[in-house]
Formats: sequence, C-alpha cells, structure tokens
Amino acid sequence: MARYSSKKVEEIKQSADIVDVISEFVSLQQAGKNMKGLCPFHNEKTPSFYVSKERQLFNCFGCGEKGDVIKFISKYKHLSYPESLKYLSDKYGIEPDDKDDYGYHNNHERSYRINELTKQFFSMQLLNLDTGKIALDYLKKRGLDEQTLNYFEVGYAPKSGNLLWENLSKDFHDFELINLGLVQKREDEYYDIFRNRIMFPINDEFGKTIAFSGRIFNNEENTSKYVNSTQTDVFTKSDVLYNLDKAIPFINQSKRLVLMEGFFDVISAFTADVKEAVCSMGTALTLNQARLIKKYTDNVVVCYDGDDAGLRAAYKALVLLGQVGLDVKVAVMPDKMDPDDYIKKYSKESFRNILKNNTLDQYDFVYEVIVKKKDLKIPTEIEKAKIALFEYLDKTASSTIREIYLKKFSNDTSVNYEDILADYHQYQVENARRQNIQRRKESITNNNKVIKKEKRAVELATKQIIYYYSIYSESRELINKYLSFIKIDSQRFNNILYSLTALFRNNVDINEMQIKIDFPDLTEDEFKLFRKKPKSIFNEIELMECLETLMINKYEHDVERFSEEMKKHPDSKQILQEYNNKIIEYRKNIESIRRKRNVKKTTNSF
Ligand code: CTP
Ligand code: MN
Repeated sequence: MARYSSKKVEEIKQSADIVDVISEFVSLQQAGKNMKGLCPFHNEKTPSFYVSKERQLFNCFGCGEKGDVIKFISKYKHLSYPESLKYLSDKYGIEPDDKDDYGYHNNHERSYRINELTKQFFSMQLLNLDTGKIALDYLKKRGLDEQTLNYFEVGYAPKSGNLLWENLSKDFHDFELINLGLVQKREDEYYDIFRNRIMFPINDEFGKTIAFSGRIFNNEENTSKYVNSTQTDVFTKSDVLYNLDKAIPFINQSKRLVLMEGFFDVISAFTADVKEAVCSMGTALTLNQARLIKKYTDNVVVCYDGDDAGLRAAYKALVLLGQVGLDVKVAVMPDKMDPDDYIKKYSKESFRNILKNNTLDQYDFVYEVIVKKKDLKIPTEIEKAKIALFEYLDKTASSTIREIYLKKFSNDTSVNYEDILADYHQYQVENARRQNIQRRKESITNNNKVIKKEKRAVELATKQIIYYYSIYSESRELINKYLSFIKIDSQRFNNILYSLTALFRNNVDINEMQIKIDFPDLTEDEFKLFRKKPKSIFNEIELMECLETLMINKYEHDVERFSEEMKKHPDSKQILQEYNNKIIEYRKNIESIRRKRNVKKTTNSF
C-alpha cells in the first residue's frame, strides 16, 4: 500500500473538494451557507445531511455521522483510511510520496530487504570466505553438505564486532538495524548482535526472511546455545514455522506435514528425503502455528524429541492440532533421541519407515506413551496416569473413543470400569467448575480494564473543560450552566475549575498572569493546560461531549451511591422503593445522553 505523509494528506484534502466528492454520490441542494441532502448512511425522507464547503466537513444531524472528505469516502466505499487516501489521490492525480512524516519508507519492504541482505552476508561468510571455515567444518562433521546448506541458506555470523553493521549502515539507518534486532548500540559504538554463530534464516510462509536464529558451535560456555531475533514488526516467533515456505510444495505432494522441534531435525529430515518437515523452534506449539498448518494440509505427523520433554510437548501439541481440526499422528523416536540423532544412528530409510508405517494415532500415543509409561501396579502412579488420560479425553474425545480407552485402562489396571467412569464424571464436573472460576477471573480483569478506560476518559474531559474555560471566553457561560450536573473525580481539578468560575463571576480577566497568582503551586503539567495556544476556533460540540462525559460520570456515581444505600436498609420497603426509582431515573439519564451522542441534533456549527 502506498504511503502518505501528513503533508500529502493535506494536499489531497485541498484538491478533493468535499462538495465535489460527495455530489457524485448524494444529490445536494444549497441550504444557506451549506449544502444538504438525504443522508447516505441512514434511511431518511427529509434531508438532515449537511456538507460545508467552507469547513470541508459533512455532518448528519439524523444519525450523527460526521467528518472530512477522507472519512466520507472511507464510510461510503467501505475502505480503510489508507485505501481512502489512495482512492482520492488516484482520482485527483496526486502521487503518493511513499514516505512517512520522518521521510522514511517505514514499511515492511525495507525490513525484508535488510534481512535479505543480511542473509546473503551470512551465507557468503560461511560458504565463500575463510572466516567461516570453522563453522563450515562443524556443519560438515554433522553430516551436512554444501548443497544442503545452500538450500536452507545457512550462514555464519563472523566473530569480529560489527562487520554486518559496517556493511549495511551505508544503505540503511542505524535505528532500522537496531529495530530488526541485528545491531546494538553501546556507548556510541555499534555492535552486531549475532557473533561467531551458525545462522539459520527464518522465513515467513511466503519465503520472506523475517528473522534469524544463531547457534554456537564450539561449546562456548556461559552463552546460550541459540540466540533468536527479538520480536520485530515483521517477526513474532510464536506465529512462525521454520521451513514452511520451502516445505509447501512437498506438503502438497505428500499430503502431510511433519512437525519437529529443531532446525537440525528439519535439515536432517530433508537429507533423508522428508522435505515436508517444519519446526516450531523449540517452544511449545501455539494455536496460531496450528492454524497456519491447517492452511496447507489436514494431516500432521508430530515427530518431536523422544525425551520426556519432547513427549510432554507432543501431548500438548496434539490438543492444539486437534482443536483446529487436523488429523494427527505421532512418530516416537526411541531411546530419548531427537530425529536428527535417529537418522544418524540408524538410517535415512529407517527414519522414513517410521514416518510411513510406524506412527501412532493420537489416542494410542497418549495411551501407550503417556499412560502406560507409568507403573500401573502402584496406586499413586495409576492415579497420575488416570488424570493424564481423563484430561486428554475430556479435551478431545467423542463418547465412543472415551469408552474404548477407559475400558482399556480398566483392563490394564484391574480397576472396575464403573468406578473409573464415576471418577471420570467427577473429573468433568470439577473441571467445569475450575473453568468457570477461570472465566470469572478473566471477566473481572476485563471489567477492570473498562473501568480504567472510563476513568481515563473522565480525566481527559476534565482537563479539556479547564482548558476551554481558561482559553475560550465564549465557553464559560455554558460550563457554568452545567456545573451542578457534572462530577469531576480529581479534587485538585475540581478546585481549579471552581476557582476559575469564581474569577469569572468577579469579572477578573483569566490570563496566565492571573492564574500564576491564584494557583502558585501549579505543577508544570497543570500549568500547560492554561498556556496552550488555542488550536482552532471554539468548538462547542467538543466541549459538550466533555461535559456529557462528566454528566454520565455523575449519574454513574449516583447509581453506585444509592445502590450502597439500599444495602444498608434491607428491610425498609419504602426506602428501597424510593432509591430504586432514583436509580432507574439516573440510568435513564445516562441512556439518554448516550443516545443523544449518537444522534446529535445541534443547530449550531458542526
Ligand atoms: N531453540 C531456540 N532457542 C533456544 C533453544 C532452542 O530457539 N535457546 C530452538 C531451536 O529451534 C532448536 C530447537 O529449539 O533447534 C530445539 O532445541 P534443542 O533440542 O536444544 O536443539 P537442537 O536443534 O536439537 O540442536 P542440536 O542438535 O544442535 O543440539
Ligand atoms: Mn539435536
């Protein structure tokens, strides 16, 4: 999408006269200084849709829709903001400048370009330069030839401090390299983040390089085995699957995807002619990754490490993969090996064979590998195995599947099937209760968020009103009129506003000087409220909105207050009735203000 600086946006607004633009879609008649017509955004028989040529704004007094020419196009044509800009700039022959306000083409293309060049730089270091020879030797020792390394575009990040930065900073800004997690600044010097590591480029599903992961290769101590790019504009690790882009044609061919844990597993699988493998890069599979898989196939073979951590991770992955409707099988590597170890210890054929003929379906995997691993003679182990089985069945299985595996479990433990079934129902009930509690907790957090947002709105409205009062003399009568209907939460701002009204009543001119005298202890931030220069002419609608926010705040406070009062008089029917009526009235008031906000019938300016 083309980009527009705010200067360009102004230029577009200048050229695209609002009356011209709207006239194409709405028939407008002169009405005083303005034009009016039937509102295109709601159904009406008499026109309440006004367009002001002078102010380049539209406003519908029927439905409250209002804004400038860009807003109109966006609403009318159902376009996003940038799409509306494109529509108008095309129509009026204005070239986008493809720059943001800072003059940078601050978009993803530039990030992709930097990552692409970085990838080439690392690859060159590994395959063509002497510096990368030690890394290349290590990889060759692990059984990878240059052709394979080329295919995966594996590279080497040199040891010395800032070679990558030196290469890229000629063409790119330092902050861009920093934002992409490639470079770091320390005491005015720039350093490469990745140093002396084997580099795996990470691509998105379309083959664009979005991040890197670097592995040590000389058993350095005190440093982590892998370092990954930080999260950036183009990279969120939990949304990406390594090698998906290259695997897609092979996924289509083989009608399945093989899901692994690590880079070396995927690369080894490739050398064993299993080219439809991807990995989730060590971390637990996420729902987004599961969804990403579902985009390309319905069949997954999970081939995680054979150690306990790998088996547990597979168990968790199964639930997610099942949740998005994938058909899942599991290939278990023996003796705690990972697929890479297995291929080297046994053979490529043998590996292919496991994937082809020796996979378990998800329930057999859970049963054989998770449940049967426990010693089913020891009661406490039986209990643990039981919970693991219940948990999985409860999340994923149909009643038929449940019955089959619970019967199996009964057989293997010699515990009565009816008793196991009773335990299972008990588990379900408790689980539902746990989930309810969890859900309630979440809903409380959400409520708190709403309250915070409202508090913030009240604070902003308060500041705005004080600003209006001090800057626009025409606002003062109006604000005074509403004073007893609004509630300001902050005692401090309350005092300030009342002092201002006192000055006004006593005919004292409200200016910076006077305010300094009256409020000697104003903080710098508070003082800013009075010093700001008026940005435009007095906007009564904006002021009314602020007043309404504080009116709603007052009514809500009153509702709260009377609800509390009612709790204190649980037995007095009369009081309860009276207070209840008040609450109903306040709620009605709140509703009516909110409604009025949507359908604004101001005869004044807009
Ligand atoms: N990983 C990571 N960051 C880490 C550790 C691991 O991103 N700090 C990811 C890598 O994608 C890695 C995978 O998790 O490939 C699996 O980790 P691990 O089993 O420790 O590494 P291997 O890939 O098996 O590497 P190697 O065989 O060289 O030990
Ligand atoms: Mn490994």
